[in-house]
Amino acid sequence: MNNQPILQAQKLSYEFDYPLFNDINLELYPQETIAIMGASGTGKSTLLNLLCSLLKPQSGEVVFQNKKIYSLKKHELLKIRRDDFGIIFQAHYLFRGFSAYENLQVASLLSNNTINNELLKELNIDFVMNQGVGELSGGQQQRLSIARVLTKKPKVIFADEPTGNLDKKTAQEVINTLFRYVKNNHAGMIIVTHEKEIAMQCNKVYELNDLELRVIK
Ligand SMILES: Nc1ncnc2c1ncn2[C@@H]1O[C@H](COP(=O)(O)OP(=O)(O)OP(=O)(O)O)[C@@H](O)[C@H]1O
Ligand SMILES: [Mg+2]
Repeated sequence: MNNQPILQAQKLSYEFDYPLFNDINLELYPQETIAIMGASGTGKSTLLNLLCSLLKPQSGEVVFQNKKIYSLKKHELLKIRRDDFGIIFQAHYLFRGFSAYENLQVASLLSNNTINNELLKELNIDFVMNQGVGELSGGQQQRLSIARVLTKKPKVIFADEPTGNLDKKTAQEVINTLFRYVKNNHAGMIIVTHEKEIAMQCNKVYELNDLELRVIK
């Protein structure tokens, strides 16, 4: 494994009305996958938002390729978010008025990468490409949003319960696709999941509990 982390969290703390977590440290290396587990409301999604450039920590730093991302100028931060980070949320922001294929074309045009038909087959959505987003099932929409994120070839994937709506078999196939992407592209991935079986397939597993990130694996 490459010994230079692609992403580092240093002493991250965050609170809303009450503290969520304190002094969180994390390192993500190329080709590595990290799972974050923990009870509902412990702050997993908030932590992921801090890591993926969407929410500035109240203290601490997120470092990507030796840059403290929240100290960068706004356009530099946006460039990293657009070019280098792949953010997969539970609520997927697909373009409603467009077909499945058009949603991928947008990602392909913006990032100058081609749409990978193999990927669409792997995710079992190749046959719904001409349907409108509104005509896809929930799980198909979820897989389309994953395909859209992978189409832009991110260096770090942040996924918040990416298999939440999927049956066990489909969930495993989606996870396999994400793992394969990470390996083949020397990317890294941080995934929030409630499913232990999925978490344990990652290189490292943490649990957010009592303001701390505990090592499980
Ligand atoms: N914008 C906000 N303003 C105030 N409180 C918030 C905000 N976002 C989240 N919270 C609170 O922070 C806590 C952690 O929320 P978060 O979404 O990070 O939890 P989570 O661990 O992802 O939970 P789940 O497993 O249910 O998704 C919750 O109590 C939530 O109500
Ligand atoms: Mg959450």
